Amino acid sequence: MRERLELFKGDITTLDVSVIVNAANSSLLGGGGVDGAIHRAAGPELVWECRKLNGCPTGSAKLTGGHNLKAAHVIHTVGPIWRDGNHGEPDLLTKAYRSCFALIRQMGFGSAAFPSISTGAYRFPLEQASRIAIQEGLAALEENLVLRKLIFVCYDAATLEAYQARIEQLAPVPA
Ligand code: APR
Repeated sequence: MRERLELFKGDITTLDVSVIVNAANSSLLGGGGVDGAIHRAAGPELVWECRKLNGCPTGSAKLTGGHNLKAAHVIHTVGPIWRDGNHGEPDLLTKAYRSCFALIRQMGFGSAAFPSISTGAYRFPLEQASRIAIQEGLAALEENLVLRKLIFVCYDAATLEAYQARIEQLAPVPA
């Protein structure tokens, strides 16, 4: 399973995979960070398609086309804004990953790439967020054999380190 899991340091919009996941806000009408990068790379048609979706609640996920992106599809999910950890933030982040993996399974996608949801503007602590991401990713790989390649995209060194540490911890390569 570990061979189907990959870390990529760079820009998610450059990846040629079946679907890339967008860390959106509940309006789905674009924003900064990875949301801004995806909309810029996809072109104006993406926001027109998103308008028809009438937003997305935190923890849920919605599918659109990829438009000018290399990826054929985009899954827009909304992670929780971190407050203090006592407002259901971990559960909502878990729910967001599970909603994305449910769509990936339903659509039969063979490859998918995720950004580090909620760890930017939404200020979710990287340690805890990376554990949730890797745990949910490993569970999805276990139960969905059609998904042959799962990439976690780390945009900066700190995120890459956190994800690397988590993978070592949760899916150690047998000695
Ligand atoms: N490719 C991959 N990852 C990226 C890219 C990119 N081009 N640009 C930024 N990132 C990384 C950030 O460095 C961070 O690690 O994505 C992670 C998530 O950060 P944000 O994009 O700020 O997303 P999030 O914390 O979920 O906040 C979402 O920000 O952009 C707005 O509209 C969005 O309101 C929503 C909020």
